[in-house]
Amino acid sequence: MENMIEIQGLQKNFGKFQVLKNVTFTVGKGEVVGFIGLNGAGKSTTIRVLLGMLKKSGGSATIFGEDVWRDDMKIHPRVAYVPGDVYLWPNLTGGEIIYLLLRLNN
Ligand SMILES: Nc1ncnc2c1ncn2[C@@H]1O[C@H](COP(=O)(O)OP(=O)(O)OP(=O)(O)O)[C@@H](O)[C@H]1O
Ligand SMILES: [Mg+2]
Repeated sequence: MENMIEIQGLQKNFGKFQVLKNVTFTVGKGEVVGFIGLNGAGKSTTIRVLLGMLKKSGGSATIFGEDVWRDDMKIHPRVAYVPGDVYLWPNLTGGEIIYLLLRLNN
C-alpha cells in the first residue's frame, strides 16, 4: 500500500522537555485513521509538526513523500486541517473574527 503519511522516529523537544519520543507510524492511501492518546500525550504536537507549523527535533516525517518542513508549500494545497483547540482573539466575537478573516481576502 502506498503511504500518504510516513513518520519515523519523530522527536520534538521544548527546551529540555521531550514531548515526542520516537513516534513512528504510517498512513496508507485510502486509510481512515483515528489518532488517540491521553491528554498531553503529544497528539497536537505531532499534527503541528506534520503541518509544518513546528520544526521537529529529530527523526523524519513526510506527507505524499515530501518533507513536512522543507516541502510544506507542495503539501499544503493538498491537505486540510480543522483544529479543535484554536485560540484567536479573545476580545472579538465569533462574528467579528469571521468578518476580519473575510476582509483579509480583499
Ligand atoms: N509550545 C509548547 N511549549 C512547551 N510545552 C508544550 C508546548 N506545546 C505543548 N507542550 C507540552 O507538550 C505535551 C504534549 O502536548 P500536546 O498538546 O501535543 O498533547 P495532546 O496529546 O494534544 O493533548 P490533549 O489531548 O490535551 O489535546 C504537553 O505536556 C504540553 O504541555
Ligand atoms: Mg491536543
